[in-house]
Amino acid sequence: MNEESIDVKNILGLQLPTDPRWVNLAEMELEEILTDHAYCEQKAATTCISLIQRYPHREEMVKELSPIVTEEWGHFRQVLAELHKRKLKLGKQRKDAYVNKLLEFQRKGGHPEDRFLDQLLTMALIEARSCERFKRLSEGLDDAYMRNFYRRFMESEAGHYTLFINLAELYLPKDKVRQRWNEWLQYEKEVMASAEVRGDRIH
Ligand SMILES: [Fe+2]
Ligand SMILES: [Fe+2]
Repeated sequence: MNEESIDVKNILGLQLPTDPRWVNLAEMELEEILTDHAYCEQKAATTCISLIQRYPHREEMVKELSPIVTEEWGHFRQVLAELHKRKLKLGKQRKDAYVNKLLEFQRKGGHPEDRFLDQLLTMALIEARSCERFKRLSEGLDDAYMRNFYRRFMESEAGHYTLFINLAELYLPKDKVRQRWNEWLQYEKEVMASAEVRGDRIH
C-alpha cells in the first residue's frame, strides 16, 4: 500500500490528527502499549464474532467478517509473541475510555437498521483511528524493527476500515451512510480533542 492510499486526512476522513507527543510517550511504555494493543485486537475479533451472532441473516457480512475474526486473532497472537520475546507480560485489560465514548454515540433505540449502521460505523472508526495511530508509530519510533512491526498493522487496519464502510453501503443507502459517517467523524474529533494524551493507550 502506498503512502497516498492511507493519507489520514483525505482517505480515513479523521478530523483531528494524533498529538505528535503521543509517539514519544508510547515509546517509553512499550509493555503498556503492547498490552493495550493486544486487547484492541482481541476486542476487534470479539466484536466481529458478536456481529455475526447478532446478524446471521446478513450473509455477505458473515462471509466477509469470518476471515477478519481469524486475522484479528492472528494480530493478538503477534502482539503476544512480541511481548514474550521481550520478556514482557500481557497485563490486565484496562478501561477503554475511547471506545466507551464512541459507544455512547451509538443510537440505542429507533430503527434497527440505524442501530446496525452505527455498529458498523463504530468499527470503521476504531479501525481508521487505529490505522492512523499505527501509522504514527511506524513513522515516529526510533527502533526500525518496531517501525516495521507497526507498519504491517497499519496496512491491515486500513483494509478493515474500508470493509466496514463497504458493508454499511451494501445494506443501507449510500447517502445515509455518508451522512451518518460525517456525524461520527465530527463526534470522534471532539472525543479526541478532549482526551488526555497518554502513552499507555493505543487510543
Ligand atoms: Fe487488527
Ligand atoms: Fe482491524
